[in-house]
Amino acid sequence: MSGLKERLQESASYVKTIIGDKEISIGMILGSGLGVLANELEHAITIDYKDIPNFPASTVPGHAGQLVIGELGGKRVMVMNGRFHYYEGHDMQTVVFPVQMMKILGINQLLITNAAGCVNTSWSQGDLMVISDHIKLISDNPMRGLNEDSLGDRFFDMSTAYSKRLRNLAHTCAGKIGVTLREGIYQFFAGPSFETPAEVRFARLCGADAVGMSTVPEVIAAQHASMEVLGISCMTNMAAGILSQPLNHQEVLETGERVKHTFISLVREIVKEWEQ
Ligand code: HPA
Repeated sequence: MSGLKERLQESASYVKTIIGDKEISIGMILGSGLGVLANELEHAITIDYKDIPNFPASTVPGHAGQLVIGELGGKRVMVMNGRFHYYEGHDMQTVVFPVQMMKILGINQLLITNAAGCVNTSWSQGDLMVISDHIKLISDNPMRGLNEDSLGDRFFDMSTAYSKRLRNLAHTCAGKIGVTLREGIYQFFAGPSFETPAEVRFARLCGADAVGMSTVPEVIAAQHASMEVLGISCMTNMAAGILSQPLNHQEVLETGERVKHTFISLVREIVKEWEQ
């Protein structure tokens, strides 16, 4: 198999033959429930993941699996409608391939959203949280293996992975449209099992406010490639052991659905005000 750079270039060239050379301002990876935002892009062009050479195959039944390129709030954006998760069995290098392709396409700004379990007991189900930092205690890392020097350095700093500038922007926009926006730390768990109550207590001791099964690999790849990142989590459920009832995916979907409109309004406002 050819090297990473060649595979990325092949994928990016295919996308370019469809969307042309016009600059794209923001890449977006939208978590559960927010994919509908992709339907609201103006002048949208849709590309199925399965048609992009070297792109991973989505294993989630009924998942859209499409790149949608269009305009939102006056900005040209590329939305990943459907993402790749570690728990699907992909290795981390595969999970981050689309982020690296965005970089090759000239995208330097990334907005990532996700559904998360709320660890912070002062907060509530349905709250939105801008991610200030993350914790990943599992040893795997998407940049493990040969370094692609043209994307970034072998060793790279993670102390500014979640842009202060964009976090401030998110808070300003939330204030403007009257949405409460928390800020906190997201801890990555591989899934697909939800955490145990003991793991959630451990996450709290670690300093985490939320737990989830996505985002962190992509943010590491984005930071490696010097992309500026904004991450926002929706607390779809209180994490395991906080309430007496067991967790289930239905609850995650229902809260996602309930908060969707607020979340979308916030993302719209942020993209509108987002300076390059
Ligand atoms: N844990 C991990 N991932 C999640 C959760 C959770 O409680 N809720 C939504 N995604």
